[in-house]
Amino acid sequence: MKKVYGVIGDPIEHSLSPVMHNAAFEALGLDAIYLAFRVPPQNVGNAIRGAESLGFGGLNVTVPLKEVAMHFVRPDELSKRIGAINTVNFGATEGKPNAFNTDGIAAVRVLKENVGSLAKKNVLLLGAGGAAKAIAFYLRDEGTSLVILNRTVERARELAARLRPPLGDTEIEWGGLEELPTRIEDADILINATSVGMYPNVEETLVTADLMHGNLVVFDVVYNPVETRLLKEAKKAGVRRRIDGVKMLVYQGAEAFKIWTKISPPIDVMEKAVRERLGSKMKK
Ligand code: ATR
Repeated sequence: MKKVYGVIGDPIEHSLSPVMHNAAFEALGLDAIYLAFRVPPQNVGNAIRGAESLGFGGLNVTVPLKEVAMHFVRPDELSKRIGAINTVNFGATEGKPNAFNTDGIAAVRVLKENVGSLAKKNVLLLGAGGAAKAIAFYLRDEGTSLVILNRTVERARELAARLRPPLGDTEIEWGGLEELPTRIEDADILINATSVGMYPNVEETLVTADLMHGNLVVFDVVYNPVETRLLKEAKKAGVRRRIDGVKMLVYQGAEAFKIWTKISPPIDVMEKAVRERLGSKMKK
């Protein structure tokens, strides 16, 4: 019988997860379908239990449900520390279903592909919301030196406090966005983990070309549009390594796919499906 998978969130109609996972199912010849379900926060528990009762293969959880869903699942150690999950796996022998957060591992994988080891690298992380939190925990475990800047300084401070103690002799610092011009001078890698620049606010950016140096690596977690204003500014500044958000989206999906099916999905097929939907060419 066809296995059903899905993503819950609100809003959800623009989610790229169905196109990405269905492309993988098709390529692998699996009799499965992935659908998007609009679920408001007050219905998360019922939705997760209902999906389990109906025999779903697995669920993704997206904005704004990643934190509230924690109450209805058994999160693994890392997602517990992050405070958010994005993947639910059914079939636990008893109690609540197991849940994971695959965002951080996806971001680190993308960065390592582009720059190699992240140990001792100076990372300037913009944001302290769900995406930033997941990324920060993984970066800490890679031994990077982290500076976290956020519009709401208190959230940056809280995140830094949760990350401590850092591993080895690396450091974790935090501050407000006004520190950006000075902090960026020492950065090897700039990560935008805020929603700034996301459709429809495509002209927005927290960093302009005049602040960037050519050796910087610029990674934008935002994938819609694929080439954000931030990445355009990086191009203008002569930054060679500019990383868009599509690969991270695909890798977090691939990790979830592996958790559910124990099969490594075809990354190329998933990426192509996403880029086609976003109207951009497949980037090699
Ligand atoms: P997500 O789960 O996608 O990370 P989130 O938890 O709402 O979403 O976090 C959004 C992030 O983008 C936050 O760091 C937010 O800053 P605040 O903590 O100050 O709200 C940041 N952000 C959103 N809009 C912003 C803007 N216009 N300028 C600066 N930062 C912004």
